[in-house]
Amino acid sequence: MLRSSVLSLTRPRLATAIARHGFHSTAFAMAPKVVATRVLPANAQARLEKENFDLKQWKEDSSMPRETLLKEIQGAEGLICLLSDKIDKDVLEAAGPSLKVVTTLSVGYDHIDLATAKKNNVQVGYTPDVLTDATADLTVLLTLAAARKMKQGIRAVEQGEWREWRPNWLCGYQFAGKTLGMVGMGRIGEAVARRLRAFGISRTLYWGRREKPELHEPLQAEFASFDKLLTESDYIVACCAMTPETKEIFNYDAFKKMKRSAIFVNSARGGVVKQDDLIRALDEDLLAGVGLDVTTPEPLPTNSALLKHDNCVILPHIGSATIEAREVMGEMCIDNVLAGIQGKQLPFALKH
Ligand code: DGY
Repeated sequence: MLRSSVLSLTRPRLATAIARHGFHSTAFAMAPKVVATRVLPANAQARLEKENFDLKQWKEDSSMPRETLLKEIQGAEGLICLLSDKIDKDVLEAAGPSLKVVTTLSVGYDHIDLATAKKNNVQVGYTPDVLTDATADLTVLLTLAAARKMKQGIRAVEQGEWREWRPNWLCGYQFAGKTLGMVGMGRIGEAVARRLRAFGISRTLYWGRREKPELHEPLQAEFASFDKLLTESDYIVACCAMTPETKEIFNYDAFKKMKRSAIFVNSARGGVVKQDDLIRALDEDLLAGVGLDVTTPEPLPTNSALLKHDNCVILPHIGSATIEAREVMGEMCIDNVLAGIQGKQLPFALKH
């Protein structure tokens, strides 16, 4: 079952030659082995299948099983993976010295063991920039949804609780004159802050790796301590990378410091939140609303206590899920693999 789910492809004419003559041509022997843990978006997939790769691809609508990855990666020169694949020392070592490039269909790379990749001379690629708009749009959607009680509203309509128009029913918060706290002011964080400023945000506090003075005037922004951001912001949005420094940075202490009217949104990684502490904060009404595109684990079990909270809107990690973004992300992965197996600098390389 596992074996048959891995589609093996080389150029069709080579496959025909092999079928006809029953031998591996020189060209076939030389086709670099590339593992793809999932089918790519349609156009990128069509291109991938035309490349002269000995392609081992998981064709099921599920993650490539770990044991299959560990087996297929042996002798591979390139790997196209997803953020849900753990590319750790075991995978990188199982590949052997042939592996030249790992490229992920994501901008996040916390699932890849960069130190081992570097030690083994494996270049690592990712898909920055092209998903910024999609992810920022989704983050704004979650912020609005949490602020305007969208989950409660949809549930009320579906469950027949929509009665006459009521002045005190499902009242949320607006943005004009409010303070936004951005944790992470990278590409996506900046795009979110720009969008929310258009909704009326008057001041932005941000905390991240470095100060960005060029944003201070256009976003009315100020580089602030994490504590100041927590206590003074009306909207707190996490768009940071998941690093040892940001792991579980949103814990009970952090939630306790937030305003009781605060809206907290996370489209970064589930791991930046200590999830049991978030549940406790919701139980204790420490927050007005929460929007999450990421959780721990993913998928979130349907019995998670988070789902019981009407003021917590959860989406299934779809930040970059637009046709436009995903197609380009697929193309970037192929470009990275092509460059990597030729020993060239990746066009979309992670510096590590
Ligand atoms: C990524 O690509 O890392 C993001 O999680 C997209 O949502």
